Parts: sequence; C-alpha cells; structure tokens
Amino acid sequence: MSAVDLRSDTVTRPTAAMRRAIAEAEVGDDVYGEDPTARRLEERAAELIGTEAALFVPSGTMANQLALRAQTRPGDEVLLGRDAHVWRHEGGALAALAGAQTNMMPGHTFTAAEVRAAFRTNQDVHASPTAVVAVENTHNMGGGICWDRAQLAEVVAAAHELGARAHLDGARLWNAAVAGRCSERDLAAGFDSVSVCLSKGLGAPAGSLICGSRDLIFQCRRLRKMHGGGMRQVGILAAAGLHALEHHRARLADDHANARALAETLAHRPGISIDLARVHTNIVMIDLQRPAEPVVAACRAQGVLVGATAAQRIRAVTHLDVDRDACLRAAQVVAAAVAAA
Ligand SMILES: Cc1ncc(COP(=O)(O)O)c(C=O)c1O
Repeated sequence: MSAVDLRSDTVTRPTAAMRRAIAEAEVGDDVYGEDPTARRLEERAAELIGTEAALFVPSGTMANQLALRAQTRPGDEVLLGRDAHVWRHEGGALAALAGAQTNMMPGHTFTAAEVRAAFRTNQDVHASPTAVVAVENTHNMGGGICWDRAQLAEVVAAAHELGARAHLDGARLWNAAVAGRCSERDLAAGFDSVSVCLSKGLGAPAGSLICGSRDLIFQCRRLRKMHGGGMRQVGILAAAGLHALEHHRARLADDHANARALAETLAHRPGISIDLARVHTNIVMIDLQRPAEPVVAACRAQGVLVGATAAQRIRAVTHLDVDRDACLRAAQVVAAAVAAA
C-alpha cells in the first residue's frame, strides 16, 4: 500500500491532464515579456483576484517578500499576526532582504482596534514606522483558519486610514474562498498586494503570483530580476498553473471535507485533542499530551506521513493526492500511534 502523505499540500504531483498542458505550452522568453502562457496566467490571476496586474514568480516566499520589499524601506515595520509565514518560515527574508522589522500581534488573526493600538507613526523619531499590515488567509500555523470577512475589511480599512499598506499572504486564498462560499476577489478587496500560490492545494509543481496595481507589479518585476527570479521559457510552469486555476479550485471542497472527517475521527480519541471549531479548510492541528516526534516516527513506520509543528502538536494537511479512504486510514494509524506511545 502506498504511503499517505499528509505533511503538506505541497507534496502533490501533477495530474496526467496537467502534464499534457505542460507539454503543449506555448513559450517564449519571459524576461523579455514574450512568454504568451505566462502572460495569460498573469491576466487570469489579476482577473480572479480583482487587481490591475499580476506577476508570476517561482515561489510563495518570493511573492510575499517582493511585495513587502516593494512597499517598505529599510527600518520600516511590518505588522503581522502570530506565526505568520512571512516571519516564521521564509528564512528571515524580511530582515535580510527588505531590512524591515516585524511587530507581531498576539493572535493569528487580529482586529482593527489592535492594528490602531500597535501602529507606529513615521512622525516619531524613535519608532520604526508601520509601513505594511500583513494578514494570512487561510492562516497556515493557525490550522488553516479563515478570517472573518467583516473583521478583515475593518483591518484593511484601519491600515489605510493610518497611512499603511495592506498585504495579503493568500497562499491558500483559494481554500478560504471555497470555505467561505465567496470569490477570491471578495476576500482580496482593498488589499494593496496579494500573493497566491499555485503549488499548494491547487497541485501545480511550482509557482505563485503577486497581484496588485500596475505600478506595484512593475516594481516587483524589477525586484524579481534582482532576486534572480526572472525565468525564461516559464510558460512550461505557467501552463500547469493555468490548468490548476481552471480545474482544481472547486475540488478543494473535497480536501476540506476529508480534513473534517479525519479531525472528527480523531477528536475524541485518548491522548488527542483537536479544536474542531478551527478546522475550516484542509489543515488539521492535532494536540497531544506527549512528545510529537515519536508519534510522527511511529506513523511513518505504518506508511502515514505527518509533521510535528510543535513539541506536542502534529499537523495533517489534505490535498488532491489523498482521498477519503486514505484520510480515514491515516486517522486510525495516528490514533494507534498515540495510544501506543
Ligand atoms: C501561508 C503561506 N505563505 C507562503 C508560503 C510560501 O510558499 P513557498 O513554499 O512556495 O515559498 C507558504 C508555504 O507553505 C504558506 O503556507
């Protein structure tokens, strides 16, 4: 029996149809702006997110970091939620590449009042001025939770009132849209920059987009070159992304249902606690009363791959390469591993 890999939704492999789209892609030199497939992908992403323009980049990290660098100056501050990916998992890029520092809110999501309280003005010589308020939707380390839409709109409005920009790390915005039964455009409304990933739940082998105004995207295009992200016949990858956008968005509902089934199967097992109210999308955080690493190893020995995200916490992520049966089998393996540990 093949392994059930729930470490991340980044582990998917391109489907046969996606591989055909890749093989047939029309390509050109994208640094010269001559790759027709990359152009089509950028236009489609801008249309879906509701921005003037978009830029294809190799990774979600590059999408976030170029967008933040373009909107900050060294010494500026980026205000963000707890355990934000741009802070926790991007190699210190905000400090190393943008020269920005961070101010982290206590919660994964936060309120407009909290933004106002934490905001630091550029009129104070002691302060590193808040240039950008960054939110993550869905929030990865928060367990794939979706922002409340009214709260999100208030946070964006507060950022703008204070003179800051608003950035959305929407690596899994597609999941948030499906879970919230709304469009990606609805969730991206008002943001100055939005990053979205093609290589998570959408199942493309690589690629992300920065969406924003024409002016911002031009600045990001220059920064992309500076960071070594200018690729040539990149339509090969863009074709996979276009295929993913057209064929893999609606099916994310299956991943969400599978995550819920897994969570409900495990929630009341001895030694396990899961906050079912926070299982909004395809990520399940499983809290243990014992160290996570031996449980992860025991699961691996039974062909189930999960990750430890804290000393006593395991994360399982559903995606298009695992079906309902595989998720339920994984739940039994995790439960047995916890019971035996
Ligand atoms: C919320 C979030 N933002 C950004 C990224 C970065 O994407 P990449 O791995 O393509 O750099 C990830 C990756 O998992 C993520 O979960």
